Amino acid sequence: MELLGDSVSSLSHNTTSSLIQPIMYFLSSALLLGSVALQSVMGRPSFSQQRDLVKRDVDDFIDFETPIALAQLLCNIGATGCHSSGVSSGIVIASPDKQDPDYFYTWTRDSALVFKCIVERFTDEYDAGLQTHIQQYIVSQAKLQGVSNPSGSLSDGKGLGEPKFNVDMSAFTGGWGRPQRDGPALRAIAMIGYAKWLVNNGYSSTASNVLWPIIRNDLNYVTQYWNQTGFDLWEEVSGSSFFTVASQYRALIEGSTIAGLLGKSGTSYSAIAPQVLCFLQKFWLPSSNYIDANINVNDGRTGKDANTVLASIHTFDPTLGCDDATFQPCSQKALANLKQVVDSFRFYTINSGISAGTAIAIGRYSEDVYYNGNPWYLNTLAVAEQLYDAIYVWDKAGSITVSDTSLSFFKDLSSTISTGTYSSSSTTYKTLIAAVSTYADGFVNIVSKYAATNGSIAEQFSKSNGTPLSADDLTWSYAAFLTAAARRAGIVPPSWANTSPSVPSTCQSTSIVGSYSSATSTSFPTSQTPISGTVTLPTPTETESSTSSATNCAVAATVSVTFDSLTETQYGDTIKIVGSIAALGSWNTNNAIALSASDYTSSNPLWKVTIPLPAGQAFEYKYINVKASGTVTWEKDPNRSYTVPKTCATTATKEDTWQS
Ligand SMILES: *[C@@H]1O[C@H](CO)[C@@H](O)[C@H](O)[C@H]1NC(C)=O
Ligand SMILES: *[C@@H]1O[C@H](CO)[C@@H](O)[C@H](O)[C@H]1NC(C)=O
Ligand SMILES: *[C@@H]1O[C@H](CO)[C@@H](O)[C@H](O)[C@H]1NC(C)=O
Repeated sequence: MELLGDSVSSLSHNTTSSLIQPIMYFLSSALLLGSVALQSVMGRPSFSQQRDLVKRDVDDFIDFETPIALAQLLCNIGATGCHSSGVSSGIVIASPDKQDPDYFYTWTRDSALVFKCIVERFTDEYDAGLQTHIQQYIVSQAKLQGVSNPSGSLSDGKGLGEPKFNVDMSAFTGGWGRPQRDGPALRAIAMIGYAKWLVNNGYSSTASNVLWPIIRNDLNYVTQYWNQTGFDLWEEVSGSSFFTVASQYRALIEGSTIAGLLGKSGTSYSAIAPQVLCFLQKFWLPSSNYIDANINVNDGRTGKDANTVLASIHTFDPTLGCDDATFQPCSQKALANLKQVVDSFRFYTINSGISAGTAIAIGRYSEDVYYNGNPWYLNTLAVAEQLYDAIYVWDKAGSITVSDTSLSFFKDLSSTISTGTYSSSSTTYKTLIAAVSTYADGFVNIVSKYAATNGSIAEQFSKSNGTPLSADDLTWSYAAFLTAAARRAGIVPPSWANTSPSVPSTCQSTSIVGSYSSATSTSFPTSQTPISGTVTLPTPTETESSTSSATNCAVAATVSVTFDSLTETQYGDTIKIVGSIAALGSWNTNNAIALSASDYTSSNPLWKVTIPLPAGQAFEYKYINVKASGTVTWEKDPNRSYTVPKTCATTATKEDTWQS
């Protein structure tokens, strides 16, 4: 307590934040003047000095808030969390509040997003305490999947769509907006994150025996029910929600990858994923230039909703660049959408007088009436996070592209900008990056200004005077702070997509009925520490922890390895690869992976296949020729050996020629 009091007074939150507004106004007008404003203007401190002031303020807030956010987040996890008396082990409460509002329950979505944050943090840097929480979460979810509830039971998967349970893991039987189909997808994503870590560190059998049966239930739910309506993440609208569909796509892609890594069948996931991606495109309104958050429902709203911003940050993959199909944070579509979502909240009193291009408080959607409709901390942080993600990718790519679609977003930050691609050596690029960084920091500053002075972050704050409202110490608010702060420091999540997706030309509504069974193996071997020699990301130092120094690269957890094999074959032959690891059939020719002859010519008899494999994995393999009759011919000795590179690269190629 003593320590906390000291840091609060040394930071003097209230006084610093009253300084912010004038600075922010000055910055936005300075930016409009273009590069001239980079020099000192009318005797005021120079632009860069002003920017440093804002940045230092955000730096201070992040230093102050990070340990509080982590501690408060863990307080909301049973059984030992300081606010979690009576809560089962591994269960995340939404908030400790038991009245006005009563959030002392566990939601599948909120818990999964919280553990997605914890797993990312853990993957970035090993932490035995977080590992225990992750294991307890997994055990709790295995049990929760089997609890019959008003949405149904596990037998046909329907019970997995239940949004909310009591903290002792019994069913919540009151009326509610159910089912909510984002929960199983998000839970699969969180668990696959840990499964990949296990595989990378040599604990594949734990991933197979303990995690896979739980993950499979959730993935089967997605493949079976993705094309049915359900309630959105705000639990109000029953239709198709952008956030849900985006999460489902990511879950299926990751599901197919982890299935491959564990030698399990992922064919239903890779079959359905393109259809989900196809459907995702339907939320985009080309003539209005934003994403409609909810379709297949007549909700009488504009559709501008922080739902879409949350979808973009939670499906961020730094290796996808500014991909439009997956609405990556720096995609033209996601930036155009961001502008319109932000502008839709200008009517709040606390936002009045703040000009375009300067951060404001962000709510859920403008028609919101819950608690009279107010800004939410987690949505304000989500906007900052999308911008930090974008800066990271632009820096990696070495350029920013402004198209007709995104022009409106960029005009707010630089009124003279026109469409084009600006390389990192140009003044325009530098001006835009500085402007987006300041803009992003501004959203964190809004949270700094309106959070409680002791660092507690509630769910909402008043649109009229900024006082905290609704649930106190919202677990998701803390997770949202931690991920935004990580992105600002250039720490990005591992890639999930393997390769850039292509959208099918016609959408289908195929679904696959899955099977479901209770996961019964729920104990973890002890001492699952990282293998020695594991590459860990450098911890950013004080000076590195700015957005402009996003030079650390994320070490790829999974690498898409392309095997090229030159082999002359007869009509009806198939070249396959088989090897010492499960993903290559464990030397069992029945489980060998077929190569494709799509590029085969008589002058270049190329057989090829791309297989996702854990970075760092070493194995032996050989090619086999399987005749139409089923006869297998092995290539000659020796066995081939290969180690998947453990670097930032997410792809690798191995070129071989049949050993005859
Ligand atoms: C099902 O998929 C089809 C094809 O994308 C789409 O038109 C339809 O709106 C979807 N319905 C639901 C409820 O997801
Ligand atoms: C901040 O103060 C409130 C009100 O006294 C208290 O409920 C909350 O737990 C405190 N938060 C922290 C992080 O100390
Ligand atoms: C290749 O690997 C297989 C499976 O481990 C083994 O039985 C065989 O002896 C190896 N071949 C050579 C030449 O080492």
